[in-house]
Amino acid sequence: MNSREEFDKIANEIFFPIYEVIAREALGILGRKNGVCLDVGSGGGHLGLSVAKASDMRLTLMDVKEDAIIIANHRIKEWGLEGRTSTIVSDVRKINLPDNSFDLITSRGSIGFWGDRDEMKQAFAEIYRVLAPNGMTYIGKGFGSAELKAKITAQMKVLHPEWPQCVIDASNGFGVEDYANFLKELKIPAEIINDDRGVWIIMKKTA
Ligand SMILES: C[S@@+](CC[C@H](N)C(=O)[O-])C[C@H]1O[C@@H](n2cnc3c(N)ncnc32)[C@H](O)[C@@H]1O
Repeated sequence: MNSREEFDKIANEIFFPIYEVIAREALGILGRKNGVCLDVGSGGGHLGLSVAKASDMRLTLMDVKEDAIIIANHRIKEWGLEGRTSTIVSDVRKINLPDNSFDLITSRGSIGFWGDRDEMKQAFAEIYRVLAPNGMTYIGKGFGSAELKAKITAQMKVLHPEWPQCVIDASNGFGVEDYANFLKELKIPAEIINDDRGVWIIMKKTA
């Protein structure tokens, strides 16, 4: 996958159905539909905007790359969500946002690009810092269900025969056990989903 535009086209045309499923799953586990959501590594914004669309939440889309945020800004208008959505260019390893700010922090398909062990721990600590008391995260990778994963894999293989290996090769290679160890070392209370929905880290901050 070469460019931002190409990834966004794939997100918009092939991955599109997964975002609503993932957003609804995260909101269902959170158990409320108000408050403030941050989507980390938002790319063109599909997941965060799907959370906003399925709820009354205010939303911030964050990505380290400005070209992603330019696309996200267009999409916010396209989806008619400019009244309760903002964007920020920021690195997850040093989030330029205040402590205890977000009731729900989502992120999909970005975790594999947050760097080495120390950088991953920095990213998790930063996410936990900006998480509000009683808030939770839904951070990881996946397609929402086995059916969607199978359908998307078949479509992607036609476009890019080397997919998903090319994504795996480009990522940092950490998996569930590594995430669990990082969280344990940071003393962050969390559980990790690892099933047909994908791999999702649920950190919880008590009041
Ligand atoms: C594969 S894309 C996923 C985009 C979107 N979440 C989705 O599922 O469609 C990964 C995104 O993570 C962003 N990213 C990578 N490293 C990051 C970092 N250190 N901080 C914030 N965003 C990062 C990339 O710029 C990219 O937009």
